[in-house]
Amino acid sequence: MTGEDIRGVIFDLDGVIVTTDDCHYRAWKRMADEEGIYFDRQINERLRGVSRMESLGIILERAQRAYSEEEKQSLATRKNAYYVDLIGSLTEADILPGALETLRYLKQRGIKVAIGSSSKNTPIILRQVGLTDAFDAVADGNGITHSKPDPEVFLLAARLLGLPPAKCLVVEDADAGVEAAVAGGMRALGVGAAAANPKASFHAHSLAEADFEMILR
Ligand code: BG6
Ligand code: MG
Repeated sequence: MTGEDIRGVIFDLDGVIVTTDDCHYRAWKRMADEEGIYFDRQINERLRGVSRMESLGIILERAQRAYSEEEKQSLATRKNAYYVDLIGSLTEADILPGALETLRYLKQRGIKVAIGSSSKNTPIILRQVGLTDAFDAVADGNGITHSKPDPEVFLLAARLLGLPPAKCLVVEDADAGVEAAVAGGMRALGVGAAAANPKASFHAHSLAEADFEMILR
């Protein structure tokens, strides 16, 4: 499949544009340890692209007791406080290899660029790394009700770009995100943990290795 009709590229944020993965892991790990709930990096992989409350649900699969809705809200709030504290140290240096070059290349070619992220912390992260004005549109966890693999966030990004889904390419590091793209009628470039996802039309180890000349040919 060629990308001759791709007019917009929608980027996932965490794990595609910035290295926030470890901050998410450390914040959840601190909360889980405090609660005496087993949590490791393998379980953490299942949280990629998944909303905060759904991530908590996955972590609580290992809990020794049931938690009330109120308790769940408070655990999620606590984790987020730890997370916000950690992302307060993010700088331009935490932008992933190839991201800035890719954005520059796409703009040069007249391709629109957007963010499509499940994270409610998207505005903070973009500000921290100096990318607030780098995108034509930002769709994030604050504007949606269903998180990936539901296509809502990508459909919102496409609408904000003024493009039909078929003319958009999604860049994702999460299997849930690749599924969301396909469910929304978009093609996907799988990177990082999603680099081998068979549902993605294009694959690259990271944005630094992605061949957009080929993808857009
Ligand atoms: C996604 C991450 O981008 O955002 C998930 O991959 C995270 O791991 C989700 O749970 C929600 O993030 P936040 O910042 O709203 O808690
Ligand atoms: Mg991601």
